[in-house]
Amino acid sequence: MTEMMEAVRLHEFGGPDVLVYEDAPRPAPASDEVLVRVHAASINPPDLYLRDGYRALPPEWRPNATFPLILGTDVSGAVAAVGEDVSEFGIGDEVYAMVRFPDDLMKGSGAYADYVSVPASELAKKPSGIDHLHAAGAPMSALTVWQFLVELGHGFANPFQSLPHAPIPLAGKRVLINGAGGGVGHLAVQIAKWKGADVTAVASGKHETLLRELGANQFIDYTKRSIEDVAQDFDLVMDAVGGANIERFLKVIKPGGALFLVNPLGFSGHEEATKRGIIVSSAQVRSSGAQLGEIGRLLDDGTLRVVIDSEFPLAQASAAHQRATQGSIQGKIVLSAV
Ligand SMILES: NC(=O)c1ccc[n+]([C@@H]2O[C@H](COP(=O)([O-])OP(=O)(O)OC[C@H]3O[C@@H](n4cnc5c(N)ncnc54)[C@H](OP(=O)(O)O)[C@@H]3O)[C@@H](O)[C@H]2O)c1
Repeated sequence: MTEMMEAVRLHEFGGPDVLVYEDAPRPAPASDEVLVRVHAASINPPDLYLRDGYRALPPEWRPNATFPLILGTDVSGAVAAVGEDVSEFGIGDEVYAMVRFPDDLMKGSGAYADYVSVPASELAKKPSGIDHLHAAGAPMSALTVWQFLVELGHGFANPFQSLPHAPIPLAGKRVLINGAGGGVGHLAVQIAKWKGADVTAVASGKHETLLRELGANQFIDYTKRSIEDVAQDFDLVMDAVGGANIERFLKVIKPGGALFLVNPLGFSGHEEATKRGIIVSSAQVRSSGAQLGEIGRLLDDGTLRVVIDSEFPLAQASAAHQRATQGSIQGKIVLSAV
């Protein structure tokens, strides 16, 4: 008999209301997987894009989904069962992961549920010094920053450019983080500081106190001043926002510096960057248990702090997505499953 669980499922693409909390079959772990009893999950932009059927993409790139599907990549919980080839984890271990990303980009990785199956290679022990809600907030945002700023850590093709992305040394460098209050941005500020950079955080004014606490040396409220008017000569700009006119950052970067685009779609400044000797680079985040192990040590010793924007019970995932669509997120939106 199929064992059941509660999960948040989609039966069609659309707004937050298409998220339905209901009975669903409990996944069974494959031989190289672990079944995780979910204590918390977090919300990331790809969850919103998939819920909406990737409407911003040209029709031929949109997913051909098999419904019902379960969103969610980021999870923290306890091991409930292990596949026969898994020896590194045992029942009861507390673990966290970013699940099958980008492999399941177009079909949902299943974390908005009471149980999710996770390849063992994507799991790490949960940092013991933080709770499941904070651990669930880390994986996608922290792995993105790690792979952009510390170590790419894989040899997969880069969907955004022909060359692999390569982090640059940050010690003593002037680094600007745009979108610094969000999931990726608030961890980028902390990781750049940990690497020895002088960090300028750019966000709306409500994030200033937090970002200074997290180590930002300078703060720019983009709703009041344009960056080009008040700051110059950065070694690196990491833009964690994207959208219109990303090219403007080229003006504030030193010759020989770099522009890292977390959301590169629409960037059209390659020619100008070449003229100014600026490296422009992007990458797509990939699941990695090994890197989450390293990040976990920094979460444990307090070097890194995950900030919670808001918390919702799993059954209210639809309200959590409503919050996400309002924008101006500070840190992470998390779902508690138990
Ligand atoms: N390449 C990858 O693999 C990868 C991985 C993860 C995320 N991403 C992309 O990276 C982006 C950020 O992700 P996230 O999880 O950090 O999102 P998020 O948590 O929603 O954060 C976005 C932040 O940007 C700020 N913001 C909005 N407009 C801004 C502007 N014009 N200037 C400066 N800040 C602005 C928002 O707050 P305020 O407006 O209040 O400052 C918010 O804090 C998304 O586009 C996502 O798709 C890409």
